[in-house]
Amino acid sequence: SATTSIGIIGGGTVGGGIISILTSRSSLFTTLTGSEIKVSRLAVRDLSKSRDFTTPQGCVVTDDLNDVINDPEIDTVVEVMGGTTLAKDAVFAALKNGKNVVTANKAMIAAYLPDLESLLSELAESAKTSTKPPPTLRYEAAVCGGIPIISSMKGDYVGDEVEMITGIINGCTNYMLTNMDKEGLSYDESLKGASDLGYAEADPTLDVGGFDARSKLKILMRLAFGISVPESSISCEGITELTKEDFEYAAMLGGTVKLLAVAKRVSDTKIAAFVSPAYVGNDDVLASIAGATNAVEVVSKNLGSTTYSGQGAGRYPTANSCINDIVRTARGDRDTMPFNAPAGVGDEKEAAFVED
Ligand code: NDP
Ligand code: HSE
Repeated sequence: SATTSIGIIGGGTVGGGIISILTSRSSLFTTLTGSEIKVSRLAVRDLSKSRDFTTPQGCVVTDDLNDVINDPEIDTVVEVMGGTTLAKDAVFAALKNGKNVVTANKAMIAAYLPDLESLLSELAESAKTSTKPPPTLRYEAAVCGGIPIISSMKGDYVGDEVEMITGIINGCTNYMLTNMDKEGLSYDESLKGASDLGYAEADPTLDVGGFDARSKLKILMRLAFGISVPESSISCEGITELTKEDFEYAAMLGGTVKLLAVAKRVSDTKIAAFVSPAYVGNDDVLASIAGATNAVEVVSKNLGSTTYSGQGAGRYPTANSCINDIVRTARGDRDTMPFNAPAGVGDEKEAAFVED
């Protein structure tokens, strides 16, 4: 029977989860896709490290990610190593080599999505004269871990107009804030707990500084409004300055403190966006979002308010999104256009945008 060969770059929290799910449900995936999904290569940084998952049978483990992106047998590269330099080069090279890509890397997608879209368009153009379909790029896990928010933004708003996005879109900091507020834990104890559970980025400054949420907000803004703005122009404040007193005052007012990411259309040509800790009243659904759970409220012209919530970080929720992308890719699904934007609106320099 047919085989789909997967190469995974990264065997950490997310990579290990993907391998465990692929291995434990392999016959289901064969039925769903019509081909056996086989992990033929895995790239890690340190070959001597012990792993908390079993390497699939026949999988070659390497410490050179070029072995994955240049392997002619590999159909799909799954990038779950993180970072914006090596990972970016690997993703571009894999696509140019005709391989489909699945990634969970929000920092890289936020920085390079328009460039990746241009490359995909070029590859689709060249594929018109070929019998092989052009490669695809999927990144469901990059925003809100297990919540299928990317699929929703790409598919469910084509006839609609998004007016506002408000979200708790970083699991690590929400876990920390929940523990600081409800359990009285210190900032350091809460951060250690989040790291132990695999929620924090390799560099937790990205989480606590609000930068990870800002990358995700930028991706959501691209899909919701069709614009791409420099991340530095989205105002960003993290949770590093929060103290016990902030929670005490918030409780006195009948609420709590959450790290919110907000983007709002303020006129036909302007969108305001920011990431910041904010007071949230207990009557607001976002006040009850606890631990590594994420929530995104999308307000749109046709649907009104729709709130998506679920696990925003952690091994299996994140791996689940990658698995969905892998299965869709192996099935040969083609995506709809990511957004309904007029030509040119995605140009960074032309983007209609104001800082809040
Ligand atoms: P980890 O740090 O747990 O894993 C990273 C993996 O990449 C490790 O196995 C590491 O190898 C490997 N790696 C690092 N550098 C290289 C290299 N140069 N060549 C080959 N392999 C390399 O990270 P996560 O699994 O937590 O995160 C991976 C990605 O997923 C990131 O982009 C992150 O932002 C994203 N993500 C993470 C979520 C989470 O909850 N953890 C949720 C959503 C997205 P070694 O093990 O040998 O060090
Ligand atoms: N560090 C990220 C978070 C991982 O805590 O939300 C999921 O994107």
